Amino acid sequence: MRRKLLLGNWKMNKTSAEAKQFALDTKELVELASKNNIDIGVAPTYLSLAAVKENADKRMIVAAQNCHFKESGAFTGEISIPMLLEFGIDWVLIGHSERRAYDNETNLKCHDKIQALLANNMVPVYCVGETLAEFDAGRTKEVVSRQIKEGLEGFSAEQVKRLVVAYEPVWSIGTGKNASTEIAQDVCGFIRELLREQFGAVADEIRILYGGSVKPENIKAYLSCPDIDGGLVGGASLKRESYEGLLTNIL
Ligand code: PGA
Repeated sequence: MRRKLLLGNWKMNKTSAEAKQFALDTKELVELASKNNIDIGVAPTYLSLAAVKENADKRMIVAAQNCHFKESGAFTGEISIPMLLEFGIDWVLIGHSERRAYDNETNLKCHDKIQALLANNMVPVYCVGETLAEFDAGRTKEVVSRQIKEGLEGFSAEQVKRLVVAYEPVWSIGTGKNASTEIAQDVCGFIRELLREQFGAVADEIRILYGGSVKPENIKAYLSCPDIDGGLVGGASLKRESYEGLLTNIL
């Protein structure tokens, strides 16, 4: 039985003080999620990770939005895994479409990051999804299949047990144009089949999230789909009220 997972992606939003306030204001929501066997968390900017970790309910998942795969070295502007672990951060988003688009994050780069995270017993949230042009050209499954195969090549079934995959069609992110539940389920079911081909029965333990204009009003429909285990939510995770709505609508 896969536990439901609600993860907020704050992107480049909130100062450290604002992030701390959110952490304090959501303590009882984390308690409520925990009572209902739901995992809940947020991915703040690097500078707010410590503030959220220190002030939130201890069961709140606090994820970084990126990391480097090397432990240290001449990589100006980067953050390494040991630096995250020092703050107790063991979840990391990998390959978000904004990083793929603006920071040249390729499947191979994602692979190296996921490898480093798995080697450290951390949880990668591997984001995949097609652009609007790819969707219009009917290439969704071809693109997603390559992202899964190249990003996860060579790992063992035991290693990928911890992995979370997020399917986020790029055309639905921040646009209000969420994918229909039929499309979302079709692609998430396809991803599970790919995982089964690559890793066997452990595919049934890997959580797959849908992301892209998820709101309190539509989250329940996504989570009613057999292969969707949770949501990766941007805009609607920023305010306490809508974050609460996301959770209470999937209890
Ligand atoms: P959105 O972002 O919910 O604002 O569409 C989702 C994401 O980018 O993870």
